[in-house]
Formats: sequence, structure tokens, C-alpha cells
Amino acid sequence: MSRVNILVTGGAGYIGSHTCKMLHAAGWAPVVYDNLSRGHREFVKWGELIEGDLHDTEKLTAVLKEFKPSAVLHFAALAYVGESVRDPLRYYENNVAGTLSLLSAMNAAGVRNLVFSSTCATYGVPNVPFINEDIPQQPVNPYGQSKWMVEQILRAATANGFRSVALRYFNAAGADPDREIGEWHEPETHLIPLVLAATDAGQPLQVFGGDYPTPDGTCVRDYIHVTDLADAHVKALDWLLTDTRPAFEAFNLGTGNGYSVLEIIQAVEKAVRRPVHRAISERRPGDPPRLVADARRANEILKWQPLHSTLETIVKTAHAWGPPHARQ
Ligand SMILES: NC(=O)c1ccc[n+]([C@@H]2O[C@H](COP(=O)([O-])OP(=O)(O)OC[C@H]3O[C@@H](n4cnc5c(N)ncnc54)[C@H](O)[C@@H]3O)[C@@H](O)[C@H]2O)c1
Repeated sequence: MSRVNILVTGGAGYIGSHTCKMLHAAGWAPVVYDNLSRGHREFVKWGELIEGDLHDTEKLTAVLKEFKPSAVLHFAALAYVGESVRDPLRYYENNVAGTLSLLSAMNAAGVRNLVFSSTCATYGVPNVPFINEDIPQQPVNPYGQSKWMVEQILRAATANGFRSVALRYFNAAGADPDREIGEWHEPETHLIPLVLAATDAGQPLQVFGGDYPTPDGTCVRDYIHVTDLADAHVKALDWLLTDTRPAFEAFNLGTGNGYSVLEIIQAVEKAVRRPVHRAISERRPGDPPRLVADARRANEILKWQPLHSTLETIVKTAHAWGPPHARQ
């Protein structure tokens, strides 16, 4: 039986590549479109790689007309909060203008189903213990704003016949249990790979802020295994293509469990059986004390449950994949 194509922008990156593996296992044919600015050619193992930039509307239109995908999974973006504060125009240009170019190509090619990688950073600094999709979105940095803007564009584009799902991930973590792919950002800014790197190099880990209103004073986050995120995309795709439903819907993807920075450090220490030296420094501007998901909507509507997101599994798979410098 021939497989149906799905275009995956940013499919050479961390979450996109894990999703391609799962799409392939579920019977789809992922076609990756990526400029490799932050992705890795060797992560594209489950379908074709087309090297191209989101801004190249003509190329995107031609690719969409050639492969006739049923939908686009749109991961391609720049995703560093600090970088977005230093260079906001680059973020709006890449994430917002780049998405407009994609939508224009999709419109021209008659492909109007989209799953969009959104983020808990669109909520800003919410004052609730568990974040559901209906609390006001008030992003506090250009990265979060760029994702929020795309959500507004997708809502409006329903008038052009678009049907889309925004998946608001909390903190993606862990790696493919088969170790075929894993987390590989340059530079790495995510906590678990940084803690692993610190144990390896024997260098102190910088902890930003020890005086937050949390049980141990460090920031609390909701860590979700990348394989669970990949699974949510396959479920969202099925829902997008088969169900009668609103033309735009947003889902949080998290576990509902919050872990502090110190708890993460302890979990890594336990897994690698080595101490992590830490240095508590000033708070980083714009870091909310606590971001933990209420993901009941995804549980109820998409029938999605995180199955790989115990802290133990997350740390174990990240450790098996190795620290960032192992690949340099
Ligand atoms: N990692 C997380 O914890 C997290 C959390 C919330 C949301 N997200 C979102 O999920 C998506 C994937 O994140 P990731 O961690 O896998 O990032 P990543 O950097 O590993 O992957 C992004 C991919 O997009 C590609 N890309 C970027 N700009 C492009 C452009 N203009 N044209 C073509 N390709 C382009 C990069 O080369 C890279 O392969 C992003 O949209 C990010 O904002 C990530």
C-alpha cells in the first residue's frame, strides 16, 4: 500500500526528527523540508530531505505541488528565548514571516491542514499552578510573541479554508529510546543536556535564581519526553484529518508534574552516579517561577497520554544518548 505524504518543516531538528520516526512507524511518508541552519542531515532517516528555507515561497509551492501532502507539520523555527531578546527582528522574520511564506505556498498548492509547534512561552508569567489553554496568553519575550502571533494568523486563516492545530509544548526532554536520534542543539540551552555536560566535564552548572517562591527556590518546569510529543503529533494529525471539529484548536502538551532545577540535578546525579557542582547566580529576566501544564484537553480529545515522561525515563534516555559535546 502506498503511503500518504506529510510535509515536515524543521524535520531535521530535535522534535521534528523524533516525529518523523513515529510518522513512519504509523504508516505515513514524512518529507522533510529544512534549511539545516540548526538541524542535522543525519537525523533525516525516515523519508526524503529537501533542503530549503521557509522564505522560499516558490520552492515550497513546487514541493507541495509535487508531493501533495495531506498536511504540513510545522516545526521550523528559531527557538532560543535569550537570542530572541537580543535579536527580536530575526525571530519575527524567521518565525512569523517564514510561516506566512509557508501559508502562502500552502494556499497556492491547495494544502490547508497544518499542525503547528507552539509553546508554553506564549503564556508568559501565569499566576496559576496549572495552566490550561483558556488562560490569557501574554508572552514576555520575542520568541513567545512570535509563536503567539502565528497562532493568531492560523485562527484568522480559517477564513481562507485552513484547518490547524497548535500544540503548545512544555519542556521537551529525553531522547529516542533506540538511540537513533536525540537532543542536539548548538548551543545547548536545555537543562538536562547541560547537567549531563556538567557531570562529564566536572564543571559547575550555573543555576539561574535560588530565591523563587517555589519549594526549594529554583524554577519549576513540566518536562515532557520527546517521544510523547511525537506521539501527540501523530494523534493530532489523525484528528485534524478525520474529525468534524473546530477549524482551529490548541492543546497543551505536558505531564502536569513540575520538577525544580535542583530536583532535575538530583535525578541526573542518581543516573550517572556522580555529583554535579552547581553555582546559584542571579535570576534570568523573564523566567517564570513555575510552568506546569493542565493537559486534560489533549487527554480527552486527542486520547493522548504521556507514556515515556517519568523523570527517570527522561533522564535515562538523555543520558544514553549522551551530552552535547559527544557529537562535536
Ligand atoms: N525544544 C523545546 O523544548 C520546545 C518547546 C516548545 C516549543 N518548541 C518548538 O518546537 C519546534 C522544534 O523545536 P526543536 O527543539 O526541535 O528545535 P530545533 O532547532 O532542533 O529544530 C528546528 C528546525 O527548524 C529548522 N529551521 C529553522 N528555521 C528554518 C527556516 N527558516 N527554514 C527551514 N528550516 C528552518 C532548523 O534547521 C531545525 O532543523 C520549534 O518550532 C520550537 O519553537 C520547542
